[in-house]
Amino acid sequence: MLERANWISPIRDFGDPCPVFHKSFSALGLRRATLEITGTGIYEARINGLPVSDYVLAPGWTSYYARHQVQSYDLTRLLADYNHLEVTLSPGWFHGDMKVRHKETPTDHTTAIIGTLTLEFADGTTSILPTDESWTVSEGPIRFAGIYGGIVYDARVEDAPMEGVKIIDYPKSQLIPQEGEIIREHESLPVQAVITTPKGETVLDFGQEITGYLAFQVTAHAGEEILINHAEVLDRDGNFYTENYRSAKTRIEYTCREGEQFFKPSHTFFGFRYVRLTKWPGEVDPAAFRAIVVHSDIRRTGWLESDNPVLNRWIENVIWSQKDNFLDVPTDCPQRDERLGWTGDAQVFVKAASYNFDVARFFKKWLGDLAADQKRDGSVPWIVPNISTPNASAAWGDAATICPWQIYLTYGDSEILAQQFDSMKAWVDFITADTTLPATWTSGKYPHFGDWLGLDAAEGSYKGSSDPTLIATAFYAQSTRLVVKAGRVLGRDVGEYEALLEAILETFHQTYADSFKTQTEHALSLAFGLCMNPQAVAASLAAMVEETGHMTTGFVGTPYLLYGLSRYGRADLAWELMLREDYPSWLFSVKQGATTIWEHIDGIKPDGSFWSADMNSFNHYSFGAAADWLYSEGAGITIMEEFPGFERVRLTPHPTEKLGYLKAKLETRHGLIESGWEKTATGFLYRVTTPVSAILMLQDCETELAPGSYEFEM
Ligand code: BGC
Repeated sequence: MLERANWISPIRDFGDPCPVFHKSFSALGLRRATLEITGTGIYEARINGLPVSDYVLAPGWTSYYARHQVQSYDLTRLLADYNHLEVTLSPGWFHGDMKVRHKETPTDHTTAIIGTLTLEFADGTTSILPTDESWTVSEGPIRFAGIYGGIVYDARVEDAPMEGVKIIDYPKSQLIPQEGEIIREHESLPVQAVITTPKGETVLDFGQEITGYLAFQVTAHAGEEILINHAEVLDRDGNFYTENYRSAKTRIEYTCREGEQFFKPSHTFFGFRYVRLTKWPGEVDPAAFRAIVVHSDIRRTGWLESDNPVLNRWIENVIWSQKDNFLDVPTDCPQRDERLGWTGDAQVFVKAASYNFDVARFFKKWLGDLAADQKRDGSVPWIVPNISTPNASAAWGDAATICPWQIYLTYGDSEILAQQFDSMKAWVDFITADTTLPATWTSGKYPHFGDWLGLDAAEGSYKGSSDPTLIATAFYAQSTRLVVKAGRVLGRDVGEYEALLEAILETFHQTYADSFKTQTEHALSLAFGLCMNPQAVAASLAAMVEETGHMTTGFVGTPYLLYGLSRYGRADLAWELMLREDYPSWLFSVKQGATTIWEHIDGIKPDGSFWSADMNSFNHYSFGAAADWLYSEGAGITIMEEFPGFERVRLTPHPTEKLGYLKAKLETRHGLIESGWEKTATGFLYRVTTPVSAILMLQDCETELAPGSYEFEM
């Protein structure tokens, strides 16, 4: 791409201030104008002072050394006879405050843009203006911008002197057209309350934790300073709390110019519900502030609703945590000094994600990066795009198989399997080569995360008490199975993997003999078809849950726990866990005031104290994975593997007396499916609408349904 263009960079190193590249051109007699552009970092292009698009944080985040997106914008409607194009570049995800860990990108410190302006005139001629030495550059008002650090902006900086640019030798072979969804602004939330904390600080509460930024209007004198800090929660005493952001400074430092002005950060984003007006000139008018929500432009496709407001709020929290963490890559959290594409988290949440929103394109792009970042030995980094060296933890690396398979199941497009098939196989081959014992995955080169944040962890440990080798082998089996399934869809020879799967199953049976000691061990073995007698294992899981009285799973076991109960006749127990409000439970956080899903089930403990200062994000979707159970078992909209993409559907509602009603709606590639139930005096009234032929399972009785709407009372 961009064959005729050059990477251009300022002649001198600007340091923290962000360079603004300039090009002026005339457009007399113009019919159409297109700009193709990208940069090493985050760029913002404006023509005649107006943004060229509503895409923010372009070019997004990919494994830049292998796949660097180029955007194409139609400028026609923005042009005048004489035009000025300016492009501001900040380090962004490329080499900013993440750079110390950005080991995979051999291109640190390159500050450059590349682009082509194509002008098509009414007389049929075309003029191409590539980036070259005719462009100029100046220092802009952004004095610093970083993903973790926020923004420092001096509104007094105008018309800084123009300086020269140089052409730099930087590759173009990694350039690809925009692949993912664009990142855009969405909701704009008003202030809910202005708080004076016990410490006397002025804090604005937006009532909802979001990812995005604060926009404000102010009238001030030139040189007056504004300092704004962000927080997710207030502490037990009601004071502003930022310790859990760790080293991320997440601040807005703004120096005013004279008069009335409006400011909205760019080149960065924040995860917050509260902001502190640490320095603010004059009176505080809540109407002068908005919280702007920013995320990838994914379309909502799934809705769940019940008569229980606590459950409804939890579902809303799952939706918010997905929006807040689907900012170009599926991130663990949007606020502290991580905000990274942790593979395990994405794997755990992908099914719920694919019901809630259309994430086909979003995952297609991210999985392209996963494949690019996979090492030659097939190992998958913990994080994609990779910014750290360690590779290959069970359940994290398995994102390589589980994510493409789920995207195929939900949307029915085998293209994703074709794209990822080599990557899927390479991951399984890596395990086969890494293990010290065949047909199992004993710890090899790298440590495993185990059942991360399992509630059965020993004091002081992040890892639940499930056997890490069992978890690793269970995922080895599942990944091998998915390679076999994907291969069959694609018509490939998978004989080798079929034999491997047989061997893993046999070894698993011999080693564990259906005897499991934690909820996660039970749930995984059931979900991945590893039990000799599933019914007996499910009964043992149910007995364990009854005895404990609550969930004990971590990230790894959570997506499968409720299925391990409801699919074996114990939906009653699954509902008990789902609707439990006391700690430990999913709904506990809602009772504690959560507006997003927390990293820890007890991020804020019953006494109001924090779980820790170190690893305590209040916006981490992993435990929200249970939402997929609500769609597919609670309301009963189940994918049939033989008919991916809901070409046909199995409806398996599991009602509970504990709710008055539950209903789910899902926009599929084949139309809107609705399924729900309502408690009646004598039983339940079921309502379903299906645009495709369906199999309805009600109390062990199977009915074939033609497309249409139905009601059944039982
Ligand atoms: C992240 C997680 C991630 C984990 C891996 C954490 O720091 O926030 O969500 O999966 O590390 O152990």
